[in-house]
Order: sequence, then C-alpha cells, then structure tokens
Amino acid sequence: MEKLVIQGGKALRGAVKVSGSKNASLPILAAGLLTDELCVLDGVPPLRDVTTMVRILRHLGVKVVQERDRITLDPNGYQGTEAPYRLVATMRASFCVLGPLLAKQREAKVSLPGGCIIGPRPVDLHLKGLKALGASLKVEGGYVLSKTKELRGGTIYLGGAFGSSVLGTANVMMCATLARGRTMIENAACEPELVDLANVLIKMGAKIQGHGTPVITVEGVRRLNGFTHRVISDRIEAGTFLIASAMTGSPLTVEGARAEHLGAVIDKLKEAGVEVSARDGSILVRPRSRLKPVDVTTLPYPGFPTDMQAQMMSLMCQAPGISVITEKIYPDRFMHVAELGRMGAQIKLEGSSAIVLGIRRLSGAPVMASDLRASAALVLAALSARGTSEISRIYHLDRGYDRIDDKLTRLGAEIRREKTD
Ligand code: EPU
Repeated sequence: MEKLVIQGGKALRGAVKVSGSKNASLPILAAGLLTDELCVLDGVPPLRDVTTMVRILRHLGVKVVQERDRITLDPNGYQGTEAPYRLVATMRASFCVLGPLLAKQREAKVSLPGGCIIGPRPVDLHLKGLKALGASLKVEGGYVLSKTKELRGGTIYLGGAFGSSVLGTANVMMCATLARGRTMIENAACEPELVDLANVLIKMGAKIQGHGTPVITVEGVRRLNGFTHRVISDRIEAGTFLIASAMTGSPLTVEGARAEHLGAVIDKLKEAGVEVSARDGSILVRPRSRLKPVDVTTLPYPGFPTDMQAQMMSLMCQAPGISVITEKIYPDRFMHVAELGRMGAQIKLEGSSAIVLGIRRLSGAPVMASDLRASAALVLAALSARGTSEISRIYHLDRGYDRIDDKLTRLGAEIRREKTD
C-alpha cells in the first residue's frame, strides 16, 4: 500500500489541467454494450474504476483497446450476459451494465453491488425502472437475474427518498433506447455526466429529448450505431483544485474546467470571499486572505454536489466562524470528520449536518483515507496545514483522481508518494 506525505503551507502557482470525467466515462463505456459497432471514447482518465469497467466489458466478450486516454470498444458478436460479484463488488458503477445488457441481449445476470462506506446505496430505483420497461427481475444468490421477451416504453417516476438517481437514470435511459415505443422518465437526474451519456446515445442513433431536465423522453429505435466521443472534463476534480487554491491562498488557473457545471460550487466559493472567474475554457481563482464561513447543503444537480461536500468542509475548517454543512444525498457521508479532527478541526455532527467551527490553520497529522472524496478533503487539509501530514490508504484517492500528486507537485506543492510498511 502507499501513502502521501505532504509538507503543508507551500504556496501553489500556475495552471493545472483537468482530466476527463470518471463518472461520465463509466456509463458511456457501458453504452458500448448496446451496439455491434466500434465505439471510441477519448479523454478517459487512467483510473482504477475505468480499469474495472474495462475488465467487465472484456468478461462479457467485448474487445477493448486502450491507448493513452482513448478506449476503443469492439462489441461485435459479444455473447456475455453476466457481470460477476468479484468485479461489481469493487465498483458500484458496474451495475449500469444491467440496462444495456437487457436491451441488447434480452437477459442479464448482474451482481448486486453491496454495501459502501459512504452509506447504504440501494438499487431499487434501477430495478423499478427496468421492470416498468417490461423486464422480469429476481434477486437470487446476490445477483439480479433479469430477462425480457420484449421491452416496451412507459412512464416511469424515478424519484426516491433522496431525490433522483444518476446511475438509475442512466440504466433506464440506456435500456429504453431499444425498447418499443416511448419512455418518459420523470424525476430524472440532471447531472452533466448524464447529459454527456445522452449525447453519446444520440450519436448512436437514439432518440432522446429533455436530457439535462427532470423529464427525459426516449423514443425507442431498432438498433444503435457505434460512436466517437470525447468525454466531458471532470467537474469534481476541477472543483477540488478550486478549493486547493482557496485553501492555500494561491491564485490558480484550472484549465478545461467548465464553469457551467460548477455553478453551486463557484457560488459558495464567492460567498466565502474567493474571487472566481471563467475565461476561455478555464476557471481562474484568486483567493483573499480571510475566508468567510458559509452554510452548504448538498442536493442533486444543479445543487451543491455531494462529491464536493468533504472538500468544502476542509475549506470551512479554516474559515473563522461557524458554518453548517448538511448532507442530503448520503446522510452518513462524514467519515472525513474524525480524520479532520486529528488535524485540529473542530466539527460536531448533528444528524446529517456538520457544524464546523473554523480556525485559522489546521496542523499536520497522520490520517487515514476512508473513501474517494474524503481522501481529497484530507489532501486539501494537508496542503494548507502547518507541518507534515501522512495520508494512508490512498488507493481510495487513486480510484477517482488522475495523478493528483503529480499535478499538485507541478503547482509547487511538497508532496511525495511512499510505500507503507
Ligand atoms: N438511491 C436510492 N435507490 C436507488 C439508487 C439511489 O434510494 O436505486 C439513493 C442513494 O442511496 C442516494 C441517492 O439516491 O441517497 C442518490 O444516489 P445516486 O443513485 O444518484 O448515486 P449513484 O448514481 O450510485 C453517482 C456517482 C457518485 C455520486 C452520486 C450522487 C457515479 C459512478 N457515481 O452515484 O459518485 O456521489 O451519483 O451524485 O457516477 C464519487 O464519484 O465519489 C461518487 C460516489
């Protein structure tokens, strides 16, 4: 295993380029299962989760070639219908092969993803949507077994207790592209990653309208073509760099970041006293010396993203005063709280809210990463803290950030990767 050793308090400087979006790439790769033709996806970040999706596609019989940031899929004649536990258990996004497999092969056996450190993550909305399209589904031995004679469109309400579901909408939308007739998905997720997926499906010949709004309409077609596409940039990676700038008091240019995908994050940064402006496909951040505390509530897009909650909490730890951070997507997603506490942060949890008493500066400490975004929050805290921090279990970080330590080093951070004993 590896750890990051970070010497805090170094100013950052210059420009950093954002990689392609992990959460857009994963369902788009699964969309390759809907066709027999070549699919080419550019800008794919070289992350462990992407490798897992590639392994699942290969397991199903798709030929996959990976060259730098390009992945080419040749699904012609693939016969597989099963996504096994050993692959799905390591990454929930694998579950979004279910919709495309059902649509193309008329049957699928996909392992249930199981528990997750950020809280319970059920798949009931995925199953409800696919059932409404005419799939028969049963859970047996930890797998969802599904088949269909014919998929038919219908009206499907996809809202749950915590709002819309990103991958649930992806699964149902992909499946509906090859169903007979019209499907209307109500309370559909509006996340940019889903819009990117819809744009790929449209390139493939699917008839989709309303993507990016809560009502998506899909008119089924008989077959889909291949596609060539460049995935959108990763808004969460971009947001993480915006906060790195604010936390270290360093002006930065975040290249390739799309301000229109980061409205809620930019709004909160401005409220905290950070100057943010968009120019020529980049975002420029100019922090002021004293941060102001702000209250943040995570919500489905275009609300403040849950995937930026931990990083925002790191920032608020050093905004003198009180801020309240409320998590409305994953009420238990607070594993970073105890670790930030080891660095001197003063945070009290009250149900699904964290009350943060900001201090001027955290102090470096050995801490442990618990999940992807919590790891990013610890890296940010360590960059601005007084003294040295050691962050262990960084394999979580490597699941979602493309060489973040290299990128930060180039900006002037003192950060090195070491083997743990
Ligand atoms: N939910 C249900 N039933 C379902 C599905 C979801 O109740 O069938 C609930 C979830 O438990 C949660 C809420 O609905 O409370 C939203 O979950 P959603 O389905 O939208 O999450 P997801 O699609 O499984 C994606 C991202 C997550 C991100 C969430 C929310 C990918 C691969 N994952 O997950 O990303 O947090 O949307 O925006 O796209 C990450 O990158 O660190 C990450 C966890």
